[in-house]
Amino acid sequence: MTALSTKHLLGIKDLTPDDINLILDTAESFKEVINRPIKKVPSLRDLTIANLFFENSTRTKLSFELAEKRLSADVINFAASSSSVKKGETLIDTVNNILAMKVDMVVMRHPNPGAAVFLSKHIDAKIVNAGDGAHEHPTQALLDAFSIKQTLGSVKGKKIAIIGDILHSRVALSNIFCLQKLGAEVMVCGPTTLIPKYIESLGVKVENNLRKALEWCDVANMLRIQLERQDIKFFPSLREYTMLFGLNKEILDSLSKKIVVMHPGPINRGVEITSDVADSDQSIILEQVENGVAVRMAVLFLLAGRG
Ligand code: CP
Repeated sequence: MTALSTKHLLGIKDLTPDDINLILDTAESFKEVINRPIKKVPSLRDLTIANLFFENSTRTKLSFELAEKRLSADVINFAASSSSVKKGETLIDTVNNILAMKVDMVVMRHPNPGAAVFLSKHIDAKIVNAGDGAHEHPTQALLDAFSIKQTLGSVKGKKIAIIGDILHSRVALSNIFCLQKLGAEVMVCGPTTLIPKYIESLGVKVENNLRKALEWCDVANMLRIQLERQDIKFFPSLREYTMLFGLNKEILDSLSKKIVVMHPGPINRGVEITSDVADSDQSIILEQVENGVAVRMAVLFLLAGRG
C-alpha cells in the first residue's frame, strides 16, 4: 500500500490501520532525512501550504511549518488573532480568499469541534486538522504512536494509560482511536468529573486511582488540565488535583516496573507532572516533539499523493 484511503486528514477515526501504518513507516524514512546534515528533500516543491491557526499553538504550528519547509513546499502562515477575522470575516470567506492565492493544502487549528470537517465540505483543497476544539488532534496521536513504536518496538499489545483531563482533550480521543487501531490496550484515568460518560463505549478501561493506572500500564501519557476550556469547576483545587493525579518521582520510582512517560505539551510543571519526572530518563517528551516533524512530513507527503 502506497496511498492513503482518505483525501483529507480530519481525524484518526477516518483512518484504517493500514493508513496509520503507512504514515508511521513513511515517517521512519523522514526521521532519517531530518537527521542528515542536509535535512531537506524536494518532494513538495510544487505545492503551497497554508497554516491557519485560529487558536494558540507552539509545537503543532512550528512542527507543521518545519515539516513543510523540509519537504520544500512554499508556506504561508495565518494567525486569526492578527487577521481580518477580527473584523468579522467568516471561516469560509477567509479560507476561500487564501485559496484564491493558489494554495494547494490547508493545515488548520480551530477552537470549534468539527471545524475541519465543515471546511472539507465547502472547499476543494486538501485539509489537515491540526486540532479542532476538544474533538481530534490526529497528528498528535500519530506522533505519539510513532514515539511508542520507536521506544518499545511496537504498539500492538502495549498497555497505555491516558491520565488527566480526558473530557476536554482532543489528544485523548485521537490517541484512543489510533492506539486501538494499532492493537494496544487503552485506559483513561482522572477524576470522575473529567472523564466523559461515553468513554467506556469506546472500549477503554476507566480508572480513578493513579497508582492502579500506573501499575497497569507500559506507558503513561500525562495530559494537561485545560483550564481555558473549563467554565465551571470540575475539582476543588489544583493542589488537590496534583495530590491525587499528579505524577511525581516518588510514585514513579515506587512502581514495580519502569514505565515510559509521555506528555503532548504544553506541560504545567508541578501540576500533572513534576519537573524531575518530565526531565527524567523515563520521559520521551522531547522525542515526541522531534518525531512530530517526521510524522507531519509523512502526512503531507502522502496526502499530496507522493507515496
Ligand atoms: N501538543 C500540542 O498540540 O501543542 P501546541 O498546542 O503547542 O501545538
